[in-house]
Amino acid sequence: MKLLITGANGRVGSALCRYFLQRGDVVIPVTRAEVDLADLDALRLFLLDQELDCLINPAAMSAPDQCAREPELAQRINADAPAVMAEIAQLRGVRMIHFSTDYVFAGDHAGKRLESQCAEPSTVYGRGKLTGEQRVLKNAPGLASVLRVSWVYGGERPGFVDQVMAQLLAGQSVRAVSDKWSIPTALDDLCEWVSWLSTSSPGGIWHGCHAGEPVSWYALAIAVQETLQAGGWLAPGACVHAQSITEMSQWAARRPIHTAMDSAKLSSHLPRPIVDWRDALRRVIEKKMAGVPPIMLDA
Ligand SMILES: NC(=O)c1ccc[n+]([C@@H]2O[C@H](COP(=O)([O-])OP(=O)(O)OC[C@H]3O[C@@H](n4cnc5c(N)ncnc54)[C@H](OP(=O)(O)O)[C@@H]3O)[C@@H](O)[C@H]2O)c1
Repeated sequence: MKLLITGANGRVGSALCRYFLQRGDVVIPVTRAEVDLADLDALRLFLLDQELDCLINPAAMSAPDQCAREPELAQRINADAPAVMAEIAQLRGVRMIHFSTDYVFAGDHAGKRLESQCAEPSTVYGRGKLTGEQRVLKNAPGLASVLRVSWVYGGERPGFVDQVMAQLLAGQSVRAVSDKWSIPTALDDLCEWVSWLSTSSPGGIWHGCHAGEPVSWYALAIAVQETLQAGGWLAPGACVHAQSITEMSQWAARRPIHTAMDSAKLSSHLPRPIVDWRDALRRVIEKKMAGVPPIMLDA
């Protein structure tokens, strides 16, 4: 299979390129050096020139603060460029997988969101991504799948979990927000979900995160700490401290509070059901720490 993958230097894109290459597929990695997604004419010409069986688009202006600062550019990259990609997918009759976010939800009440629930984003980032979803599905009906993900970790470019691990193992304490909730997504599982979508999806919206209850960044950091301590890689004791989202004065864009998604629909279609985020976290940490001897504690 020949897959074109945008954002090939990004957190998700780089992991997808590696995954499909290792599986023996042909990958066309697309970075900003090949084509600037802000230049829609150049993007159209570039894509028309490619032979492909599937188009995967994790590229995005993914930082909410940058989107708030540059709303027009955010709209072009997160909505207009994916719409062009879907147009080409439709023209070629190939599947497209477009990445989106839990930030399409307003986040004003607790619980897990289903694909069928109304999305009402409260940020420039979320609004651009929702428009992107709608235009992709309109331009390539039946061929395009929108995969909404949240709190991705476990790849070469560190996510929240990776940063917490690195800080704890370096002997530093961690401060994490305790009053904002979502569900983490391990990249190795995410790649398998994308693989299924690339060959078998009937199109539409899919929530791609782990199973289990919503968790705050603080509780997630505690889970990382406990897993490292259980494996003997971190000394007992509390290194993680809670902070409120109201303390995040460096954020230019307000973040939605409750955006956990329910991935039961995707799970019911996959060859292997999606596991609880705690089991995925343990597996990823244990894999990463394999071969690292437990620390010797003073008697
Ligand atoms: N990571 C998460 O936790 C998370 C959570 C929710 C949703 N998502 C969604 O998942 C997808 C992948 O996220 P990610 O974490 O992999 O994001 P990322 O690490 O920020 O990667 C985004 C990629 O898009 C590329 N890009 C941005 N503007 C471009 C432009 N004008 N032309 C060409 N390429 C451009 C970037 O290129 P450069 O490297 O050159 O900047 C980068 O490689 C995104 O759609 C994001 O909205 C991610």
